[in-house]
Amino acid sequence: MTQQKSVVVETIGLTKTYEGDVHALDGVNLTICAGEFVAVMGPSGSGKSTLLNLLGALDRPTSGICRVAGEDLAKVKDLDRFRSKTVGFVFQLHNLIPTLTALENVEIPLQEEKMSDAARRARAKHLLEVVNLGDRMNFVPAQLSGGQRQRVAIARSLANKPSLILADEPTGNLDSKSTDEIMNLLRTLNREQGTTFVVVTHNPAVARAADRIVTVRDGRILRDEKIDNVYLEDLRDFKETALGHAIMNGHLPDELNGMGLDQVVAQVKELLEKV
Ligand SMILES: Nc1ncnc2c1ncn2[C@@H]1O[C@H](COP(=O)(O)OP(=O)(O)OP(=O)(O)O)[C@@H](O)[C@H]1O
Ligand SMILES: [Mg+2]
Repeated sequence: MTQQKSVVVETIGLTKTYEGDVHALDGVNLTICAGEFVAVMGPSGSGKSTLLNLLGALDRPTSGICRVAGEDLAKVKDLDRFRSKTVGFVFQLHNLIPTLTALENVEIPLQEEKMSDAARRARAKHLLEVVNLGDRMNFVPAQLSGGQRQRVAIARSLANKPSLILADEPTGNLDSKSTDEIMNLLRTLNREQGTTFVVVTHNPAVARAADRIVTVRDGRILRDEKIDNVYLEDLRDFKETALGHAIMNGHLPDELNGMGLDQVVAQVKELLEKV
């Protein structure tokens, strides 16, 4: 018998309308299973953060159903408790407390837990080691790089062993090296701990690291696809370039006209090496 994967997120007709008739989300149906790593993409203002805020119970829908980890959020009495038990948040602006050390920042979500000070400290230390910051525990945020601060925020989001981590542009203001490090870290946590991730990003390279890309436009899901072709987003971007249009319209530039595939690849490589 095949085992059914448990559903972590289920939305039915999820809708959020802001004052002034702004349809930020418009009837979103989305199911995410345990252990999935989902990227959410879409233009600015398309509703990505609104969706994340509803999934994390930071905001309430205008209509529709939102179930997270088996709980219908409309029926949860203590939302603070639900959030701290079930969901971890990572934002672009990491919201670390500037006067506290990395270690103290990671301890904050553990304050509610019935554990001794020593156990709390040990868990925070362990989490900072997981994100490779064992040697920076006593640094305050201003003494850390952007990527290191984001790793502290990730350690903090893991503190209560949430089943779902919601990340809104977690690599938004990082260079490409730090972006790769953060994504590798998130993927490792996803694989090793089975944590489910929903990551909003504008960066196709970040989205490519996911199992599935949900594209939102005007508050609706435009596309929802598993990634089986790692170049899918590159190809989409390429299609919109002048060369992409030329190929689609059958008007190849002179440099490529009349060549066989091998020659085209060699010629494109030569052109790419020059740019
Ligand atoms: N508190 C609010 N009050 C009124 N309108 C809002 C509010 N929050 C968001 N909106 C509107 O809802 C729409 C979706 O916003 P949202 O923040 O979800 O977009 P987004 O996809 O995250 O964009 P970005 O990529 O720029 O972060 C936008 O048109 C925005 O103006
Ligand atoms: Mg946003």
